[in-house]
Amino acid sequence: MDVITTVSELRKRLSYEKSVALVPTMGNLHAGHIQLIKEVKPRTACLVTSIFVNRLQFGPSEDFNRYPRTLESDCQYLLDAGCDVVFAPNEQEIYPTVQEYTVDPSELQHILEGAFRPGHFRGVATVVLKLFNMVQPQIAIFGKKDYQQYLVLKDMVAQLALPIEIVSAETVRANDGLALSSRNGYLTASEREEAIQLYQQLSTIKNAILSGNRDYAHLEKMATVFLNSRGWQTDYIAIRAQDHLREATAKDTRLVVLGASKLGKTRLIDNLEIELS
Ligand code: PAF
Repeated sequence: MDVITTVSELRKRLSYEKSVALVPTMGNLHAGHIQLIKEVKPRTACLVTSIFVNRLQFGPSEDFNRYPRTLESDCQYLLDAGCDVVFAPNEQEIYPTVQEYTVDPSELQHILEGAFRPGHFRGVATVVLKLFNMVQPQIAIFGKKDYQQYLVLKDMVAQLALPIEIVSAETVRANDGLALSSRNGYLTASEREEAIQLYQQLSTIKNAILSGNRDYAHLEKMATVFLNSRGWQTDYIAIRAQDHLREATAKDTRLVVLGASKLGKTRLIDNLEIELS
């Protein structure tokens, strides 16, 4: 496995590969990332994992500075998972000048996560487009844990006609159901126990909908009140159509329930897809 930090070295290394797949990450890898690698590895000659904590997608009061940077253990993890190339650029390599040209995603960037993290998806789309230009993969994979991010990037690739197949991977969960996330590492022991309540509330909503309940506003409110009564600060619990996260109507059969809530200082997000027959 090669660990490469510059674009020129990367281009040289990839020039003789028949096909390239990219797993973009911000590092601090866990089993969810390894799942992404396992899914695309059989489909490519060369698998590249990028590790870059992208300042552009963090708000001024967010956790950019304390986001865990664990390159050495990440590389060990990636070696074991069969990664071929780690691209771990520094900030100067990705943003040698002030980034004045940015990608402004569709309306999708302003709802749900976008409403609470203004500019977040512009930052994500901009760095992912740059990574695509640097790595030039034929396939890139994103986890459904960041459901809205996956949709924004799929749209970006379609609307800008990028010759890249975007693949999604299911969320990987701990035994108790908590979605794996680098931010789980911020939780104290007691918060970690409490953290499964977000998943449990989403599961309760999913089961209610599968049992025929269509009062989405009431279901969203019940879950929000429940979490907040336990000390969470909930940004949203939302039942949406999978298609562009439109407001769901009783006619929609492909739904997703998404939630974002703060437990102590840690903001957690999760979602569950719901397929009605
Ligand atoms: O999902 C992430 O880890 C990041 O948002 C991504 C896609 C690597 C862009 O910085």
